[in-house]
Amino acid sequence: MESTPAAWSKADAYLADLLVGHDPQLEAALDAQREAGLPEIEVAPVGGKLLNLLVRISGARRVLEIGTLGGYSTIWMARAVGPDGRVVTVEAEADNASVARASIDAAGVGDRVDIRVGRGADVLPTLDGGFDLVFIDADKESNTLYLDWAAKLGHPGTVIVLDNIGREGEIVRGDSTDSKVVGTREGLRMLGEDPRFDATALQTVGVKGWDGVALAIVV
Ligand code: DHB
Ligand code: MG
Repeated sequence: MESTPAAWSKADAYLADLLVGHDPQLEAALDAQREAGLPEIEVAPVGGKLLNLLVRISGARRVLEIGTLGGYSTIWMARAVGPDGRVVTVEAEADNASVARASIDAAGVGDRVDIRVGRGADVLPTLDGGFDLVFIDADKESNTLYLDWAAKLGHPGTVIVLDNIGREGEIVRGDSTDSKVVGTREGLRMLGEDPRFDATALQTVGVKGWDGVALAIVV
């Protein structure tokens, strides 16, 4: 079998079929997102399940998400924090937030999810800290700002997950003028250099093409 984007996608669908399975609430959230015309850039099913497992493995009870979109990843994490847990999710676009609110409520986890509408730069300084896991999946240009707030709002041991660190291999192009690539590279550099973090990153291939995710701990 050739190693092509089509093959990666097919293998990813196979893995999702085996390990994630049919999930009417999550599928309804994706349908609602598509019907509302939101971009279809949510995490892959296997990536959502990874977030769910990371929350459970780390025992996180307070989760911060930056970039709600249609609430797909939010639902995955809200399920994982349990009935006494809480997910605070920050979304810049009010239209996205209302789609997410409806889907999160329909998934039965609305009471654990607090959606804060506004730019991260404005909302994050207003939050109480103590987050055990932070998922950063918003405008890549602000990655360093979000990582700084993740450290401030976390504690030693807080898990940080940073999405989209691969960007179709563009990250190795130091001369790239794409602001998303520049922001991704700056976030990765911060994870490597800033003594508040200890991190690694994994490239991924699948239904979202060639991308990846960084994992860090607040030391
Ligand atoms: C983009 C953003 C994402 O969070 C993602 O997972 C994929 C693409 C984007 O802005 O291009
Ligand atoms: Mg993403």
